Amino acid sequence: MRITVLGSAAGGGFPQWNCNCPNCAGVRAGRIRAKPRTQSSIFVRPDDGVDGVLFNASPDILEQIRASPVLQPARALRDTAIAGVVLIDGQVDHATGLFMLRERGSLLPLWCTDPVAEDLSRGNPVLGVLSHYCGVARHAVPLDGGSFEVPGVPDLEFRALALTGKAAPYSPHREHPVAGDNIGVTITDRRSGGRLFYAPGLGAITPPVFDAMAGADAVMVDGTFWRDDEMPRLGVSSKRAREIGHLPQAGEGGMIEWLARLPASTARRMLIHINNTNPILDEDSAEHAALRHAGIEVCEDGMTIQL
Ligand code: MLT
Ligand code: MN
Ligand code: ZN
Repeated sequence: MRITVLGSAAGGGFPQWNCNCPNCAGVRAGRIRAKPRTQSSIFVRPDDGVDGVLFNASPDILEQIRASPVLQPARALRDTAIAGVVLIDGQVDHATGLFMLRERGSLLPLWCTDPVAEDLSRGNPVLGVLSHYCGVARHAVPLDGGSFEVPGVPDLEFRALALTGKAAPYSPHREHPVAGDNIGVTITDRRSGGRLFYAPGLGAITPPVFDAMAGADAVMVDGTFWRDDEMPRLGVSSKRAREIGHLPQAGEGGMIEWLARLPASTARRMLIHINNTNPILDEDSAEHAALRHAGIEVCEDGMTIQL
């Protein structure tokens, strides 16, 4: 399979429109070596296939489609390579792009968990709004370990895992998490045998999560924050990483420690959904060097991976 990173930043993108933290101001002024990034999304297709699956519909989806010719194969007057959309949560940075796909000529095939479908029907009724445009054919993501497939995308198999995380701030149960608010997905190419574990929002590494990571050839996991108190320290927000469902990279029990425990067979270890405050965005930072030393990659928009 081929994985295209459409957007590697967390909510807000990089630089964030209203932010003048050292990273955002630095990249705008050309003072730091860093690449701008759009909001969190990947596209996955079989090696010899055109049609694939969009993971998350970012508010930046239109810009991402323009930047990635594989998403517009131009086989007909109206066309798209997006055979279906899978949402890993219902947060604004992952679901708002659904509005931008409204010109589709047929129902948009959408996979999400029941709590996410409820949030997108009540707290933020995107699905109801879309019923006045293309409409959505919603399929439930199984959380019992069973696999699912997306019609039109042969040989790719998807298996979801409920994660520790947070529902979106608008969710009626924001402070009372339920299984399925956030998922990680193992994507397996039945032909090549290649396997990716994708979890852009991950609050804790439980034994099933570690097993899923250890069973994959590549992981693309939560790279939101370097430190738990990154935003309070910078004075941009009072929210701590763990409090909003993101495991920080540094420190005891952080993502770097967990990635170091993976077997050699998990050859690629990548961070995605990177917040604009994270020092790893500065390619000359000590934190970026520490990741390189640990064999951990920082995803960039436009990056492609073959598994
Ligand atoms: C998150 O992942 O915590 C959210 O997407 C942040 C946001 O979009 O405001
Ligand atoms: Mn997010
Ligand atoms: Zn910033």
